[in-house]
Amino acid sequence: MSVNIAVLGAQWGDEGKGKIVDLLSPNFSIVARYQGGHNAGHTIWVNGKKFVLKLIPSGILHPGVICVLGNGMVIDPDALFNEVMLLADNGVDVTDRILISDRAHVILPYHRDLDLLEEQRREKKIGTTKRGIGPCYEDKIARRGIRICDLKNLSEGNEAFTRLFENIVRHNAQYGESGMDPSAMAKSLREAAQWMRPFVRDTSKYLYEAIAADKSIMFEGAQGTLLDIDHGTYPYVTSSNATAGGVANGLGIGPTSIHGVLGIVKAYATRVGEGPMPTELPNEIGNRMRQKGEEFGAVTGRPRRCGWYDVVAVRYAARVNGLDALGITKLDVLDDFEDLQVCTAYRYEGRTIHEMPADTTELAKCEPILEWMPGWGESTRGITEFENLPSRAQIYIRRLAACSGVPAKIIGNGQDRNDFIVRKDVDVPVLNWMNELSRGT
Ligand code: GDP
Ligand code: IMO
Ligand code: MG
Repeated sequence: MSVNIAVLGAQWGDEGKGKIVDLLSPNFSIVARYQGGHNAGHTIWVNGKKFVLKLIPSGILHPGVICVLGNGMVIDPDALFNEVMLLADNGVDVTDRILISDRAHVILPYHRDLDLLEEQRREKKIGTTKRGIGPCYEDKIARRGIRICDLKNLSEGNEAFTRLFENIVRHNAQYGESGMDPSAMAKSLREAAQWMRPFVRDTSKYLYEAIAADKSIMFEGAQGTLLDIDHGTYPYVTSSNATAGGVANGLGIGPTSIHGVLGIVKAYATRVGEGPMPTELPNEIGNRMRQKGEEFGAVTGRPRRCGWYDVVAVRYAARVNGLDALGITKLDVLDDFEDLQVCTAYRYEGRTIHEMPADTTELAKCEPILEWMPGWGESTRGITEFENLPSRAQIYIRRLAACSGVPAKIIGNGQDRNDFIVRKDVDVPVLNWMNELSRGT
């Protein structure tokens, strides 16, 4: 039987999911995204060439792999078109390679507008990517969204057009005349439907049949556990379920088809946007991490907030996702740090706590309890076996995994596709096929 696994973020996003999904892809027939939109930025480096994927799953650079954009996603047709064109310019042909769910929701110009306006209006900003993600999911839940299947015959008189019209009227009533013309919008959406037509289908059925035919599927998360709408640091979150629970809903498959979950974390922590981050280092050490790790948003270019590895957050992620293993990326970024710290618990109102509080105002008051660890002071780049890492780097990885309560199966020690180490000494039955991963180009 083939093995289907989910690869998702176990911190605040940008953990290096794209790189890991890309390097694992040759072992899968299909890579499927289950939530989010072009708020995601998944970076892959191949032989010095950089690709940033936003909507298209990170399996697209491997010609044999089919990429599915699931019903749980929100899709901006212009952003998708631009991404397809950019890939084509770089020699990646998506013809017959991407499938778009007919049930995915569409990000419309008024969603982008609303994202900006709402953010301006908020006293406490969320720091969204301003891509219209939240307002699009709002419309979905409020049962007034426009789906991919609506686009092909969106014209005056039909039901979807009425929804579109009413949405624009509501927008204008709340925020003043926007100048948006529903007929013009419908026309450009029909044009988008035209070029998307060959890609659109019932992707749940496609996946069901693929599973029946024993094809292997990798489920790719966007954002991260602490940005999940239910389990994240609400309200400083995105508007979808980035956690493993989102896979089944976001793709229309049964949860029994998910055989394993790999949580991706950095060897430290970052966050972009607002909201509490107990281990944040707003100082010289944080700046060093940012420079060394090139911690600037792949979508918005904003500097990412950097801090120490937060065990409380990752233990929590392990619980809510049922993680089988961790993939720990960016070990190399810590190569020349003499002293390292790991946050093993929080201090809150004089007490030691080991769980993430639900209330973000409480989380904001939590101080990290830090455990010192020595750095290793030499380069880890180019090392391909765990045993060949400096012994202090091995101890650091073992400590992170032990404290987080999840074994670390794969380690990232550089940005290139081939910069990884699989720990063959770590036995995770559902992931042991990774022991045979080859280092291609
Ligand atoms: P994603 O959103 O989770 O896919 O992550 P991003 O692409 O937004 O951010 C991760 C950044 O770290 C990207 O610039 C990657 O090229 C880079 N990266 C991933 N793994 C490693 C690693 O092991 N070492 C280094 N130095 N960079 C890495
Ligand atoms: P990937 O997939 C990091 C953050 C935004 C903001 C919050 C809400 O690359 O890991 P949104 O536009 O989604 O309404 O913004 O979520 N955010 C991300 N942070 N990585 C991402 O994606 C993110 N997608 C959204 O910065 O704080
Ligand atoms: Mg990213």
